[in-house]
Amino acid sequence: MLKSIFILSIAVLAIISCNPKQSKQEEAMRKDDHSFSHPDEVIVDHINLDLKVDFSKKQLFGYATLEINNIKGVTTLHLDTKDLDIDSVWIDDATPTTFELKPEVKYLGKELIVKITPETNSVKIKYATSPAAAALQWLGPSQTAGKLQPFLFTQSQAILARTWIPLQDSPGVRFTYTATIQCPTNLMALMSAENDTILHDDGIYKFNMPQRIPSYLMALTVGDVRFHKYDQRSGVYAEPITLEKAAYEFADMPKMISAAEELYGPYAWGRYDVIVLPPSFPFGGMENPRLTFATPTIIAGDRSLVSLIAHELAHSWSGNLVTNATWNDFWLNEGFTVYFEARIMEKLYGKDYADMLTVLSKGELDSTIKELGANSPDTHLYLNLKDRDPDDGMNDIAYEKGRFFLTTIEQAIGREKWDKFLNNYFKANAFKSITTADFIEYLNEEIINGNTELAKKIDAQAWIYGPGLPPNCVQITSSELDSAAKEALDFSNGTTAKNIITTDWTTHHWLYFLRKLPEKLSNEQLKDLDKTFHLTESGNNEILCEWLQICIVNNYTDADKAVEEFLTHVGRRKFVKPLFTALITTPQGKAKAKQIYKSARPGYHTVTTATIDEMLK
Ligand code: BES
Ligand code: ZN
Repeated sequence: MLKSIFILSIAVLAIISCNPKQSKQEEAMRKDDHSFSHPDEVIVDHINLDLKVDFSKKQLFGYATLEINNIKGVTTLHLDTKDLDIDSVWIDDATPTTFELKPEVKYLGKELIVKITPETNSVKIKYATSPAAAALQWLGPSQTAGKLQPFLFTQSQAILARTWIPLQDSPGVRFTYTATIQCPTNLMALMSAENDTILHDDGIYKFNMPQRIPSYLMALTVGDVRFHKYDQRSGVYAEPITLEKAAYEFADMPKMISAAEELYGPYAWGRYDVIVLPPSFPFGGMENPRLTFATPTIIAGDRSLVSLIAHELAHSWSGNLVTNATWNDFWLNEGFTVYFEARIMEKLYGKDYADMLTVLSKGELDSTIKELGANSPDTHLYLNLKDRDPDDGMNDIAYEKGRFFLTTIEQAIGREKWDKFLNNYFKANAFKSITTADFIEYLNEEIINGNTELAKKIDAQAWIYGPGLPPNCVQITSSELDSAAKEALDFSNGTTAKNIITTDWTTHHWLYFLRKLPEKLSNEQLKDLDKTFHLTESGNNEILCEWLQICIVNNYTDADKAVEEFLTHVGRRKFVKPLFTALITTPQGKAKAKQIYKSARPGYHTVTTATIDEMLK
């Protein structure tokens, strides 16, 4: 059986790798099911935005001018839009043209078809966004740290750019962009582009992004922020009240950039800055080029959650330079990034530290596989997200199964050879969008090279097109975490909290300890832990979220207030989702969840409400 699977694997690999142009299969793999655009006919090369930011109406108003390359000389341009109000369209600046907005399609929005000629060079669209645009979150002053000014940020990944710009919203299309953004005079506008770090008295900001990027990396934020410089090419933006703490927390950023460059080649984007957003930001981080967007929930005061910065920085290579061609290939973005992140962490903080992070993640991956079902096609690295929200593919499979696959290859061929391969991979594919089949082909050419023994040892087929974790998966252990697990075992066997040895424990020891506690704990045990370690008052959001889940499932009511406070203050989906999941396991809990959600929901981003609405239906 195994042998026949192996032969089949080799055959499939051979088919994929032998004749790159030939196969229908490859064409199908490159087709983006999540875009109406026809980039094989016309490619948008450059976008110029001229937008006014209106906080009172919660709308962007203005123009998007698309410079196009009409490869096939066609007479229609197909664009993606969602909830956009299209006012008028011109070709080549001044000639009015006709357009048609097709009926709404679930997840995808409305196709916009613009009449062009084979000679058309540009298409100018006058439009407005909707106050409910999914990519935009408009925050009132009370939702910010400073409480005085409003705030706006965008989140375009995966297919939300179309809710604030009419464009070819596919990761297979890259373009450069320029923009003029007009905002209230006391606020700063920043984009995923060249930013000049200072407040403009007239509220007008001009941007240039000279490198080609895919649409999901279009980003804008407007708020009362200031800049703290680390060195000539990096720094951090945050609200004035948060700036000092943020600057302390991320001070290793310049070292991270150098470490990343030593690993996989020069940083290609000029500056690397981070902006700390208000707590409703639905993600931990977003790798917008030149300007990572980050949640404030990683500011723990002790720099213990900065692997997130290493992750977003790593995307400057994996994702932003070498991009998944479709969302089915998402693991190419995230799996490579988690691998790269771990290498940066190892270089900066040592192997023991990096191994702790890896072991923690492995636990999460195991739970995800269990949740999805060990044989579920959604546990394949290469996904089929047709007719689904690409968000469905945003889980530990792409991230962690992806990373363990790459670590398995590293172990099979040795780090030196693997690093050389990765350096070449980033160089050869820079500013390109690639499919999983492209990766397999590259791996075959550069690494496997006809070596059937090695192909068998790596077994790319099982990892990419098969379920769960293949048997050749590397095993990573951490003696540090083993000792934390032992304390958890002792505690569950009756040791009291004051006898738990926590000397030199990091955030990661705490997380592992909490995860290794038995599911059922008595109120006395929880009180004992809480009194000794003040967990309900923890200022570390990762620890707090882990602890609060334990409190909820064990009905430890002393933490009720903290649960409510956390859920109404933080909108990061990674935290909000497990807390609501824990709450809804009992009927009383569900009633409570609904009551909390009622007041929390208006403060959440649509990415988070989409998930929680579904859970609380
Ligand atoms: N690019 C992702 C965030 C994302 C993925 C947004 C898909 C929308 C669709 C970002 O790089 C990321 O992975 N963020 C993680 C943090 C990371 C340390 C695992 C997050 O936000 O939790
Ligand atoms: Zn990522």
